[in-house]
Order: sequence, then C-alpha cells, then structure tokens
Amino acid sequence: MRLPDREGIWIKEKKMTQVEYVASCKDEGIDTWASVMLLYNSALKEIGTKIEILNDEFQHTHQYNPIEYVKQRVKSPESITKKLKRNGYENSIENMVEYCNDIAGMRVVCTFTSDVYRISDMIGAQNDITVISIKDYIRNPKSSGYKSFHMLVSLPIFLSDKVVETKVEIQIRTIAMDFWASLEHKIYYKFEGNAPEYISRDLRECSVIVSMLDDKMLSLNEAIAEAQKEEE
Ligand code: GTP
Ligand code: MG
Repeated sequence: MRLPDREGIWIKEKKMTQVEYVASCKDEGIDTWASVMLLYNSALKEIGTKIEILNDEFQHTHQYNPIEYVKQRVKSPESITKKLKRNGYENSIENMVEYCNDIAGMRVVCTFTSDVYRISDMIGAQNDITVISIKDYIRNPKSSGYKSFHMLVSLPIFLSDKVVETKVEIQIRTIAMDFWASLEHKIYYKFEGNAPEYISRDLRECSVIVSMLDDKMLSLNEAIAEAQKEEE
C-alpha cells in the first residue's frame, strides 16, 4: 500500500512531561489551568477505557466480571492548594503537576483480593503505561487498618501537536475494603482526624474482619467453582 502524500505530514511527536507542557502553554499564551485539567480528564478517560476492556475480556473468556465498579474524580482546586501547602510547596501550576500525584484519581473496586492483583498486573503490563510507584496497603495495611493497592502511573495523552505523559493515581481494592474505607473516611472527617480511641480501635477490629470476609468469600467462590467442575 502506498501512503505518498501523507507520510511527510505524520510527524511523530516526542513525549513531553507535564512540567514541559505547562511551560509550552505559557510560551504560547494558552490558559495553563484549563490545559492541565484537559490532560487529567483525558487520562481518566483513557484508563477508564482500558479497565472496561479488561473487564469485558474477562466476561467473555471466563464468564465473570472481576470489577464491581469504578469511580473517578479530578481533585478540586481547594484540595490541590491544601495539599501543596501541607507539603510545603508554593501554590503554582508547575508545583501542582510535579508534586501533586493524585489530581487524576481512579478507584477500581474488585470482587476478590486475587482480582485486585490480577487487574493491577494487567494494567502494569500495558506498554503505554509507566508505573511510577506502588503502595501495597493490602500486604502492609496502614496503622488505621486501611487496605488498598495503590499504583501511581503515567500514560501518554495525544493532543493535536503534542504528546504529554500524564499521571494518574489508581486505587484498587475489594468491595469489603471499599466499604471499610468509605466509613472510616466519613468518621475521619466528622472528628477532623481526632476520633475517640474506642472508635479507632473498633475500626481496626473491623479491618481484621474485612480481611477475614475477603478470604472466606474467595475460598467459598473456589469451592463453588470446584463443585461445578465435578458436576460437568
Ligand atoms: P495523601 O496525601 O492523602 O494523598 O496521601 P499520600 O500521598 O501519602 O498517599 P497514600 O497512598 O498514603 O494515600 C493516598 C490516598 O489513599 C488518600 O488520598 C486516600 O484516598 C487513601 N487513603 C490513605 N490512607 C487512608 C486511610 O487511612 N483511610 C482512608 N479511608 N483512606 C486512606
Ligand atoms: Mg490523596
């Protein structure tokens, strides 16, 4: 097949960092805030589609959905400003793209703990995704009792004449872990981080129950699968 006329036009742009992108927007006199928000929203769309594809593939190969639901959000300007301040950075768009890693946030809620690792491995293995860091709070829960698998990744966002490597924080956890985390979050806010000791203790106890529930549900599921196999 010949592509004579178009070949010279299809110039493959090199990837740039978000910090470089902010500088280029400033040079070109483009609204930097709106531009970086476009990047984060686009990154969430890309990751959202990837996760949907994995779930669809699972459905047709194993007749089962490992993902219960997905939530996503872009951090509010107030929260970004607060976080920068808390970490000792001046409030600027450069600092925001460089030091605030959870502006684009994706939460993937799975059925079983094994699905959490399966999904995270599949995401990490995709060759347009760069895994920047991982925090495994399932194997190493926080002192609060919090459990979840966190991946900080970046992926290229293709704009009209630029390709920008954009960061997304992905939190992957089971429904039981998500139930615990949302309740704990509400309590944390209610008491502004100073919940009475008996409540914190109860939450830590609940977190142990969450792990037991996850383990029990997984072995139950395996037993059902085994029984089905024997019937066939
Ligand atoms: P943040 O400044 O809160 O973003 O924390 P970090 O940059 O040290 O990262 P970390 O991976 O510890 O936490 C990131 C996110 O995980 C938080 O913004 C929360 O959404 C969630 N998280 C972490 N710890 C807890 C916890 O103890 N309880 C709940 N409910 N959520 C948590
Ligand atoms: Mg956060």
